[in-house]
Amino acid sequence: MTDQYVVFGNPIAHSKSPLIHRLFAEQTGETLEYQTSLAPLDDFTSFARRFFEAGRGANVTVPFKEEAYRLADHLTERGRRAGAVNTLARQADGSLLGDNTDGAGLVRDLKVNHGVALSDKRILLLGAGGAVRGALEPLLAETPHVLVIANRTVEKAEQLAKEFSDLGPVLPAGYDWLEESFDIIVNATSASLAGALPPIAPSLIQPGKTFCYDMMYAKEPTAFCRWASEHGAAQAVDGLGMLVEQAAEAFYLWRGVRPESGPVLTALRRLMAEA
Ligand code: ATR
Repeated sequence: MTDQYVVFGNPIAHSKSPLIHRLFAEQTGETLEYQTSLAPLDDFTSFARRFFEAGRGANVTVPFKEEAYRLADHLTERGRRAGAVNTLARQADGSLLGDNTDGAGLVRDLKVNHGVALSDKRILLLGAGGAVRGALEPLLAETPHVLVIANRTVEKAEQLAKEFSDLGPVLPAGYDWLEESFDIIVNATSASLAGALPPIAPSLIQPGKTFCYDMMYAKEPTAFCRWASEHGAAQAVDGLGMLVEQAAEAFYLWRGVRPESGPVLTALRRLMAEA
């Protein structure tokens, strides 16, 4: 039987993952099937276990990443630190390895696709939810000068900063504490889903210098990207590249082959523009 892969989520019908992995498989000559899987909200664990009786690997999206973390028999270090798993891989002995490729996807998109150096840079993360938690280990591994986590609920930023302080210079903040500019600003608040922005000062952007990144993506520029461009950011880019890169990282974990993400990203952008 052809190797089976799925993405678990609820809802899941609009996931781009099957298309991305189909393009990766074509490109690398790997033979596999990848589908969406609508997991029940009240019984993710047994549903996933049934799939893994024959299935080889799964991506996991909202709202199951924490349950997938608990389901995994072993975790990668970044999966353990993230406290959430977006990739499961069945091992030769039948056990499940859990990984979190979201943060690595962000770092690869920044460094490889956009040529942004992270070492010794002042980086600001907006938000302190699951998306930020997943990004902290891979970002700190790039040895930034400082990484500031700003959040509406400051206690959550403080908690995260404390938990990750052994990995590098990470500080918590409230939005109104910040005035000085940053080299890189990453928006990871779910405010963008509603077209809203956290209340941040334009002085955080050094015109022509600051690189702004929104983990969200859309056909049109997101509210954060528009704000960044209006205030002179050197670049303002959305998170479609992160989506493709986290998928490439999962594909690599499953198949041992790293697909080229550039052509897949181009194809996705074209499809989104046509839709
Ligand atoms: P995710 O997994 O996408 O990170 P999450 O864990 O629910 O989602 O976290 C959502 C983040 O967006 C949080 O940092 C939240 O701030 P609070 O911790 O203060 O709730 C942030 N957020 C959501 N809506 C926001 C808004 N309107 N303004 C500012 N921050 C917002």
